Amino acid sequence: MDDGNGLGQIYPSLQKSVYLYGKLDELTCLIRTGRQSSHLSTVVMPSFSNLREAEISNLINYLSHEWGDQSILPITSIREQIETCP
Ligand code: HEM
Repeated sequence: MDDGNGLGQIYPSLQKSVYLYGKLDELTCLIRTGRQSSHLSTVVMPSFSNLREAEISNLINYLSHEWGDQSILPITSIREQIETCP
């Protein structure tokens, strides 16, 4: 699991995640709001709405570095995205 390949259908694999290749900005609201699994009705990613901008930034940039294309999401983008989260 620490290699990012997830745990069955409970935690999806982060390897080759489409978010980590060109859609980093969409991760801000995914982390803040959480989401129902698209394929399992009983599995929900919880909301982490208590995380501050800097914490979300650290998470996203870590994920991008470990399992993505190493691009960086600037904190200004995270700030803008938070305003739009559901
Ligand atoms: C801060 C901690 C977390 C981060 C940074 C995170 C990150 C992510 C990312 C990057 C994805 C997209 C994967 C992809 O489809 O490409 C994702 C989806 C998902 N995560 Fe999390 N996750 C976190 C915590 C959790 C926890 C605790 C759970 C389960 C209890 C969870 C369950 C899910 C599920 C079910 C999806 C898939 C949604 C779908 O199928 O559409 N996540 N998460």
